[in-house]
Amino acid sequence: MLHSLHLAVNIFDRQPGLSFLARWAHVVVGITWIGLLYYFNFVQVPSFAQMEAGARNNAIDKLASRALWWFRWAAAATLGFGILLLLIQKTNGKTELTSGDYWKSGSGISIATGILLGVTMFLNVWLVIWPQQKKVIANARNVQAGGQADPGAADAGRRALLASRQNTIFSFPMLFFMVGTAHFFNSYGVDGKPLGSSGDRGIYFGITAIIWLAYELSALGIIGGRAAGNITNWVYENHWRAIGTGLVLVVVWYALFEIIFG
Ligand code: HEM
Repeated sequence: MLHSLHLAVNIFDRQPGLSFLARWAHVVVGITWIGLLYYFNFVQVPSFAQMEAGARNNAIDKLASRALWWFRWAAAATLGFGILLLLIQKTNGKTELTSGDYWKSGSGISIATGILLGVTMFLNVWLVIWPQQKKVIANARNVQAGGQADPGAADAGRRALLASRQNTIFSFPMLFFMVGTAHFFNSYGVDGKPLGSSGDRGIYFGITAIIWLAYELSALGIIGGRAAGNITNWVYENHWRAIGTGLVLVVVWYALFEIIFG
């Protein structure tokens, strides 16, 4: 009894209890977000494509709108707990968020890559998917009530779909680096100490930025437009291509890390 009480108190201790709590909460809301992302991509989009228009509008109104509520708030909570982790966790006695050495270490380079992808995914949710889906939902409700269909609804749906498939692609390398931070990439170099030279890190983040930008700009239609059939949109045409591309990116990013820092 006394022993378990002691444990209950321990978990509210600053180290390591609080950071463990934040880590657990981060993963709970993270799986809520990414679970719904996979539901949208692997289940809802293919099913809606086969549904008759009236049934689809009803499902958008009653089902997709609810799923999107959990989706966007889980995304916000994931980002919040992620930042909290960086504020609570310490490496070599220094708060990670503000420690220069941490961001240059194996763990730091890994989490910086994961965060770049995670924050991009968060912005895709709040600045693209949700605003565009609001138009799709408003149109479905309006049509159900007997109103005129919004001619812009299809384009709004397309914009949201491209960003959503891009998030599916990014989710694989993002999780690879999230999980790898404390369980793999911390084994490169000395924990909490700079890994490689500043030139090595410059090359790593330079190539990382090119891959990240190329995909994101293409998902936004800034590169290659939004039309189906464009070569830059090949990866977005169905969810299998998005999954395959995400897995390829895991191999590419791991190879990049290994070649430069291995
Ligand atoms: C949105 C921006 C995100 C930020 C700022 C962020 C931040 C972090 C941080 C700081 C860590 C701790 C790294 C470590 O020291 O081990 C972490 C770990 C982790 N994150 Fe995220 N994260 C984000 C998104 C996500 C998402 C979307 C998921 C999806 C499930 C996720 C899942 C995880 C997992 C599973 C771990 C590893 C837990 C462990 O190995 O014990 N994160 N994240």
